[in-house]
Amino acid sequence: MQRILVTGGAGFIGCNFIHYIMEHTGLHVTALDKLTYAGNIESLAGLPPERFEFVQGDICDAPLVDRMTAGVDAVVHFAAESHNDNSLQDPRPFVDTNLVGTFTLIEAARKHSTRFHHISTDEVYGDLALEDPQRFTESSVYRPTSPYSATKAGSDMLVRAWVRSFGLQATISNCSNNYGPYQHVEKFIPRQITNILDGNRPRLYGNGHNVRDWIHVEDHSSAVAAILERGRIGETYLIGADGEQSNRVVVEKLLRQMGQSPEAYDLVTDRPGHDLRYAIDSSKLRKELGWVPRFADFDAGLADTVRWYQDNEAWWRPQKAATETKYAGQGH
Ligand code: NAD
Ligand code: TYD
Repeated sequence: MQRILVTGGAGFIGCNFIHYIMEHTGLHVTALDKLTYAGNIESLAGLPPERFEFVQGDICDAPLVDRMTAGVDAVVHFAAESHNDNSLQDPRPFVDTNLVGTFTLIEAARKHSTRFHHISTDEVYGDLALEDPQRFTESSVYRPTSPYSATKAGSDMLVRAWVRSFGLQATISNCSNNYGPYQHVEKFIPRQITNILDGNRPRLYGNGHNVRDWIHVEDHSSAVAAILERGRIGETYLIGADGEQSNRVVVEKLLRQMGQSPEAYDLVTDRPGHDLRYAIDSSKLRKELGWVPRFADFDAGLADTVRWYQDNEAWWRPQKAATETKYAGQGH
């Protein structure tokens, strides 16, 4: 493998993956990204031009996707509409990008016999009760609950069908909630960090008891790299780092780390249909591919992330006011 195409490369996880691949391999990377509100070309600044190329474009643009897929050995597909709250306001772009976009890419990969890795989420499995001893595994039943998770579930099903019916050389990974540098300020952790930096109180939905299974984005990148290199075709791998935390605990940790009272947050209107808990059992990935997460200490990873937002205000500031105006309109 010498050249890869990374869709959604200007987004949070895509750009972190590209930085990881540039550092840890000799691969040539082409990023394809539409630069929606969620994409930021600044996240890819400074990459060496002899090994990196950026193309602005839509994954639903079949002729463009066909041309770009023809020139690479593998496609790693991150591009998506990714935010649940937005999917509840306007589901249409989720259907277009997550379903039609994925369809467009796998048709091109099928035509050119290109290795394909599909990035998905644990949210396709719905949610768990707080006390449920089970975590999600590769054989959990699909029960998506929001337009976001439903369109991601649909895209997984398309990839699975293309493997079975057309012999597409694909793997799928479903990862838990990521945190780390370059995440848009609409998402939970960066929203709260930048609120605190701005002297505003963090906003917890509902009673704050919902649980997410946090993984540092660099650990997601190393897992995807392992699957791309050694994953078995047709297989699904769950990616997680045993990082379950309630939203309330995360906000309290952030407030303490940033020198505030741990009670200095507000409870706001809950998200409709809000999933209670996600939790990943990543034994298959660990046993089969020998993957281990590097960021075992959540508090230390969170502190690094706080520092990154403190040091990179120029990166997030342009999105902050518009994001908060949108949330105010939703009662969040
Ligand atoms: P993001 O919203 O930060 O980035 C998405 C990127 O895709 C943006 O750069 C955007 O411009 C681009 N994009 C959107 N529509 C496009 C289109 N039609 N054509 C080309 N580019 C387009 O999202 P993220 O958090 O980096 O998520 C990346 C992937 O990882 C998604 O598939 C998401 O479902 C999955 N995932 C995310 C998380 C998480 O915690 N963020 C967890 C598990 C899985
Ligand atoms: P989010 O980052 O939107 O990710 P996801 O919906 O994919 O899990 O939200 C993470 C959790 O934080 C989720 O339970 C919703 C909650 N949340 C808040 O409590 N306050 C906020 O301001 C946001 C954006 C999210």
